Amino acid sequence: MKQVAKNFLWGGATAANQFEGGYQEGGKGLSIADVMPGGKDRMKIIHDPTFDFELHDEYTYPNHEGIDFYHHYKEDIALFKEMGFKTFRMSIAWSRIFPNGDELEPNEEGLQFYDRVIDELVAQGIEPLVTISHYELPLHLATAYGGWRDRRLVTFFERYSRVLFERYQGKVKYWLTFNEINGAQFMPMLSLGMAIREGDDQLQLTYQGLHHQLVASALATKAAREIDPSMQIGCMLIAAPVYPYSSNPEDIWYAHDAERMMNFFCGDVHVRGEYPSFAKRFFRENGIELVMEDGDLETLKAHTVDFFSLSYYMSRTEKAEKTEDEAAGNIMSGVKNPYLKASDWGWEIDPMGLRVILNKLYERYELPLFIVENGLGAYDKVEADGSVHDDYRIEYLRDHLKAMVEAIEDGVDVIGYTSWGCIDLVSASTGEYSKRYGFIYVDKHDDGSGTLERSRKDSFFWYQDVIQTNGASL
Ligand code: BG6
Repeated sequence: MKQVAKNFLWGGATAANQFEGGYQEGGKGLSIADVMPGGKDRMKIIHDPTFDFELHDEYTYPNHEGIDFYHHYKEDIALFKEMGFKTFRMSIAWSRIFPNGDELEPNEEGLQFYDRVIDELVAQGIEPLVTISHYELPLHLATAYGGWRDRRLVTFFERYSRVLFERYQGKVKYWLTFNEINGAQFMPMLSLGMAIREGDDQLQLTYQGLHHQLVASALATKAAREIDPSMQIGCMLIAAPVYPYSSNPEDIWYAHDAERMMNFFCGDVHVRGEYPSFAKRFFRENGIELVMEDGDLETLKAHTVDFFSLSYYMSRTEKAEKTEDEAAGNIMSGVKNPYLKASDWGWEIDPMGLRVILNKLYERYELPLFIVENGLGAYDKVEADGSVHDDYRIEYLRDHLKAMVEAIEDGVDVIGYTSWGCIDLVSASTGEYSKRYGFIYVDKHDDGSGTLERSRKDSFFWYQDVIQTNGASL
């Protein structure tokens, strides 16, 4: 079997709001994730124009407790070490550092929590990979400013990033600015903390919000280079190839257009430092007029990223004319692909799609690629002896890793792979515990019950072997 580079960064990925818990500890303020209800209707509720950002008695809020990494971090990092992780992807909760988001001075207690976590990772020889903003905007920035529609968030984000870079220089080398920045096109609330009200021009607000994030990302990149030029700053996108449903030229064009809007629109700004050629027509035809400040275009051009990171869960198949009953259960719309099976949540499983998109991204950008999310959300069954035989997860991950190795053989420079939810955590789209991704099982359930005890699934030992053999065992 082909192997990956000796210094390949194997590991796992998480996000603060989905696993830390301690939502009001250490002076933390509330974030938008803290007011998102658990359950399959979560996305519907938060994208409803009447969503009020309040806590309601009739809902549950699993993100409040997460899996309590806040108090279990040593035990969890020891398990990551046991698996052989070279890297661990985590995010920092902005509202731990700036509880409201717009303060001038950071919350020292919040920083001290991350000092402990990062020091522990470094002590265990695990390279921290840190996302600065992962679907967890301080709530006050959503309610008082309307989220990323407001230009002032650029300054707040830059200030917050500088605090992190100064505090963790010499300890954290790899940084990601915004998780799945292109997700704003599908989920404006998660990505931009922006409620879309009746009468709002959603497209205008979304692309304006994205422009603010892209400028904020470039300014953070600039700050990192001033503080510690050895830091590596990456962008992070949901990546998926978009297949035409048929050879009908109308479908081919539709898929091509959907693919570039999804993968290359934000990617081009991050990597090439400018809006792509097709943006102009898109803006014109949709009545979008971006408001820019003097110097924005120069800022984008001057501070582009060092590497490109991506999440990959599914491909997308598109058709020019489609009906509702043809829709796939994927998060980015599209129609069902008759060649693919889907997970229990309707996400289509397509390892070859990973090879396709890695090649496309590398051909376009020629920057190192880092797969920072990939995995299967599934129901797990705990046997009487406590074991979890998750052969379906092993099969999914093996097939995707094999596709990644093929892409490397194709000449693509992939520098690492962190599987999503390496320890069970709360799902972002449904707020469920039962949608599990982990190698490590956590005894915590949708009804709030559970001891939070950690245990090793079969996939734990499988992944340990993959890392130990540097991919040869795949
Ligand atoms: C990515 C997000 O979109 O997908 C994660 O960055 C998320 O936050 C992951 O958890 C899996 O999605 P879900 O909805 O199954 O948790």
